[in-house]
Amino acid sequence: MKLFAGKPGWTVTADVIVIGSGVAGLTTALNARAADLSVLLVTKAKIDEGSTKWAQGGIAAALGPGDTPDQHKEDTLIAGAGLCDLDAVNVLVKEGPEAVRKLIARGAVFDKAETGEIALTREGGHHRNRILHAGGDATGAEVSRALLAAVQNDSGIEIIEHALVVDALQTEDGRVCGVTLHVIGAGSTNGVGQALARAVVIATGGLGQVYSQTTNPSVSTGDGVAMALRAGAAVADVEFIQFHPTVLWRDTSQAGQQPLISEAVRGEGAILLNHKGEKFMAGVHPQADLAPRDIVAKEIFGQMKEAHVPHVWLDTTAMKDFKERFPTIFASCMSNGIDPQRQLIPVAPASHYASGGVLVDLNGQSTVAGLYVCGESACTGAHGANRLASNSLLEGLVFGARISEHIAKHLPEQGVPQIDETEERVLIDPSIRIPLQLAMSEGAGVMRSEKSLKAALATLQQLGTHRTKTPAVDAWEVSNLYFLATAIVRSALERKESRGSHWRSDFLETDKLWERRIIQHLDTSGNWTSSEQEVNV
Ligand code: FAD
Ligand code: SIN
Repeated sequence: MKLFAGKPGWTVTADVIVIGSGVAGLTTALNARAADLSVLLVTKAKIDEGSTKWAQGGIAAALGPGDTPDQHKEDTLIAGAGLCDLDAVNVLVKEGPEAVRKLIARGAVFDKAETGEIALTREGGHHRNRILHAGGDATGAEVSRALLAAVQNDSGIEIIEHALVVDALQTEDGRVCGVTLHVIGAGSTNGVGQALARAVVIATGGLGQVYSQTTNPSVSTGDGVAMALRAGAAVADVEFIQFHPTVLWRDTSQAGQQPLISEAVRGEGAILLNHKGEKFMAGVHPQADLAPRDIVAKEIFGQMKEAHVPHVWLDTTAMKDFKERFPTIFASCMSNGIDPQRQLIPVAPASHYASGGVLVDLNGQSTVAGLYVCGESACTGAHGANRLASNSLLEGLVFGARISEHIAKHLPEQGVPQIDETEERVLIDPSIRIPLQLAMSEGAGVMRSEKSLKAALATLQQLGTHRTKTPAVDAWEVSNLYFLATAIVRSALERKESRGSHWRSDFLETDKLWERRIIQHLDTSGNWTSSEQEVNV
């Protein structure tokens, strides 16, 4: 199955195509160049767009005195609530410190403590201070700056900005050998071209825009995951959408990307209060306000529901040097009329991170030959049912390096794309975007039930009948949102338990029998199938 698009009018070639210019794409591109491969880097908007530049809290790695990869592993496994793949976690935590050192060698500058050592802070679920940060709360901006400078300095990396990748091109035997892409602004049909390569790496980030309120930027429409599904790849763990507990609440009419108040703010002393001004996390979890993210989000949701209020409060008023330590968050609070040094910050959960994605092995290979996936689009199994704070940037660094190494060792000849004229092509009308997001927020949000999920699925099925024949960016994006929303709801319906960030009001307990992951496939006619897989724990 493919999206409806014009016929490609032009062709470019490279050894490797990397789709996306966040931490995952940039790291993969740089490492592929180090292996002497020619790289085409395609990105949907300006090159620095994507979640990476918005990352606040930092990067987790066992670099502090007394810390070890094993301790980092323990915290990752606990946060992942029984569904982490042990091998993937081992790779993440053991290769993490070296990957961070390499990032520093590439030019990233992290904040220092008074001793001159790199300053380390704490976030939810971590039992140690192991989060490196930059510019206080602007870690992603620094990571993006440093990697971009290195990429732009490398003449072996061809960059195409403002180019939306639509679908995979595949050989007769199904191997991915390129992609179709549309250069935005070059006309709605004559902007389509094809990029051919011996390996394709999806690094298109998350899918937060499936929901009405999200911390994710507008480019996070899950295009790569949906494209992989249409190419026949398996996706896994997609029901585990992580809702960040502390997103600045403005008013109920706000939609799209919302300002984040980093978990690191709680790591440095901020306290959650309910509408009566009471601390509420202490009795809920031994780590109280710094419990893993899913636990804090659930408790906040419960507090809001019980009191019929749209948010709780974050108290930062006793914190010293808030403005200096968290300059980005300070500025975004102030621009919303809140002085965090004197006033409580209204916060509520919003969609933040896709713990699942395209199922890949330890080398980032999907279940379709020639197709690799890195970063938030991938499901390596390192996050299980709930990602540990600041493990995402780390995953992009670690697996970006592994993918390039694997590609360099196993590069096939360029394949010839086969266009199947009989293959089903769809394009959903962009007008369904808001109703789709509302249906997902209502039915598949922080807390779900069979009733709410079935209602969301029925709405999706109805919205999916709204088709268009006009290829355009908003239609391709909404079509991708539609496929992913369907996958999320299908998996969430199937998982009859509560675990990690999947919370069912009709199945409140975690069920040992569900220590399995749900895999979804889409066939060429658009039919879904799902299966279950044991987890390597
Ligand atoms: P992104 O950085 O999202 O990059 C995706 C790229 O793909 C973009 O360049 C985009 O334009 C491009 N793209 C998308 N679709 C297409 C298409 N069809 N064609 C071509 N290009 C396409 N994680 C941490 O570890 N620590 C943190 O402190 C942290 N803080 C966060 C704060 C915020 C506000 C947010 C939103 C996330 C945060 N995260 C954090 C999560 C983390 O930032 C992301 O998971 C990570 O940056 C994802 O990197 P990525 O390279 O996979 O994707
Ligand atoms: C944050 O700073 O709270 C976000 C960290 C993350 O998503 O890992």
